[in-house]
Amino acid sequence: VTAFDPTAVDVQRDPYPSYHWLLRHDPVHRGAHQVWYVSRFADVRAVLGDERFARTGIRRFWTDLVGPGLLSQIVGDIILFQDEPDHGRLRGVVGPAFSPSALRRLEPMIEATVDDLLRPARALGAMDVVADLAYPLALRAVLGLLGLPADDADAVGCWSRAVGRTLDRGATAEDMRRGHAAIAEFTDYVERALAERRDDGADLLALMLAAHRSRLMSRNEIVSTVVTFIFTGHETVASQLGNGLLSLLHHPEQLELVRRRPRLVPQAVEECLRFDPAVQSNTRQLTADVELHGRRLRRDDIVVVLAGAANRDPGRYDRPDEFDIRRDPVPSMSFGAGMRYCLGAYLARLQLRTALGAMATLPDLRLATSPNELAYQPRTMFRGLARLPVAFMPAG
Ligand code: HEM
Repeated sequence: VTAFDPTAVDVQRDPYPSYHWLLRHDPVHRGAHQVWYVSRFADVRAVLGDERFARTGIRRFWTDLVGPGLLSQIVGDIILFQDEPDHGRLRGVVGPAFSPSALRRLEPMIEATVDDLLRPARALGAMDVVADLAYPLALRAVLGLLGLPADDADAVGCWSRAVGRTLDRGATAEDMRRGHAAIAEFTDYVERALAERRDDGADLLALMLAAHRSRLMSRNEIVSTVVTFIFTGHETVASQLGNGLLSLLHHPEQLELVRRRPRLVPQAVEECLRFDPAVQSNTRQLTADVELHGRRLRRDDIVVVLAGAANRDPGRYDRPDEFDIRRDPVPSMSFGAGMRYCLGAYLARLQLRTALGAMATLPDLRLATSPNELAYQPRTMFRGLARLPVAFMPAG
């Protein structure tokens, strides 16, 4: 029995065999670096619904890691690292921008963007789904949510990647140097956008400026929120789109079914989210001693819940390892649970449905590389392909 380590190369490539072992033999497991790993669905839900499994300690871990300066100040303010009451205050401010009625205004833009991005590929009959569709779509959608121009996508994407690399256990000294340089430019950009903004409009920036005037949100918190939402909002959707399409490509009969019956797209998206989620894990630190599944966990212990494992729990799903878009949908753990349930779930589903629906219509769509050559980006919390080359019959 070895200690589970999500940074191990074979686990990053395919974590599911390790999850099986954990689910079956050690559902609350003391893994590498003294971290607890929780795998069963009911236990994951219990942890995510319990405030004693908190985030403040995790914030300290990352701000110490990136060192003093603007980067740690921005990282320190992000909603994902706050506990109550700050978490609830910030969620209250930004929440209305994520309601289905507020997001419906983005639907035409998302459809047009998918169309635009697919146009050059349609003529060629080939594309890399990750670079040509997933990242540019997800980035433009989150800029639309914020009320920032789509033309800024390239610059914003560069800063976001550089900052994101500092928030990984494998970050090098060079990654840190680039991250610090990028956050300075990123912050200037957000400050300029705020200064130029009129206060009308239904987008997130307008909402946050109004909250700032009512003293509900500081200027630093606005900058942090913009930076975080751009990063988390687009890395997640882009990775999920690649993972989901790959699941469909591995099951051509189900891809064909989606092509013939487009009303199955929403169900197919739910199964893609369950089967191979972009966010594999969420981390907490205990503020008290707690007993979980017969194990004694101590105050200050780090606890990682594994959504990717919970989604394969045989106690919750029939045939958990079968990808089946026709199964009766049982909600998965892919957007988390409890008070931190993903704010962007509706926006993510909108993009995944539009993009996967459009991809499924491409005639004779297939993987254009051997499955052994598919590589994952070297990250632990997020799971996403580095490239996903596909081919299909060109138009005309
Ligand atoms: C929270 C997954 C897309 C914004 C979360 C959490 C998960 C998650 C698992 C819970 C984190 C925790 O408990 O620590 C995903 C996945 C996505 C996605 C798989 C895409 C398929 C988005 C998008 C946005 C977004 C598009 C929009 C900007 C957020 C925010 C939170 C969050 C703000 C924090 C909520 C809070 O702390 O109260 N997401 N997400 N997500 N997500 Fe997403």
